[in-house]
Amino acid sequence: MARELKIRVNERVWTVASAPDTPLLYVLANELMLQGPRFGCGLAQCGSCSVLVDGVERRSCVTPVSAVEGKAVTTLEGLPAWYAAQKKLSKTPDLHPVQQAILDEQAMQCGYCYNGMIIKASELLSKTPQPDEARIRSHMNGHLCRCGTYPRIIRAIQRASRVMAGGAA
Ligand code: FES
Ligand code: FES
Repeated sequence: MARELKIRVNERVWTVASAPDTPLLYVLANELMLQGPRFGCGLAQCGSCSVLVDGVERRSCVTPVSAVEGKAVTTLEGLPAWYAAQKKLSKTPDLHPVQQAILDEQAMQCGYCYNGMIIKASELLSKTPQPDEARIRSHMNGHLCRCGTYPRIIRAIQRASRVMAGGAA
């Protein structure tokens, strides 16, 4: 008999019925119907399933749902509100600046890596608002894009950094 768990996702508390060792990704997709995190490798190798747990990127495909009890999970869907709370904005934007910059730089092709790239870049800019290119590359290492859009993703992160600093895109 599965134990009932309560988890906080995107600032809402959810009661989930899955077994405690169920990967968080499955709970997000199948019980909470959140489509941001994607199933890629299922082995913590690609990053497409990433979420923020207390502001730190975690691979939800290998994270048991019980591991996030008592923590704050943010998925792509909750990223604009997470950003607004961090910046103490009076209004939640439609998109996190990284999401907007990805669009502005036309950085995506198939878009499969979109979730993980944005989550990981948002984690970076929350801690290091003005990273140089080497820092961006090292931080994003381990997030795979099968379409090879890495240069455009780097440009998007640089653009978001400028926007978040209040400068021109
Ligand atoms: S699906 Fe989780 S890292 Fe690839
Ligand atoms: S845009 Fe296709 S995997 Fe990155």
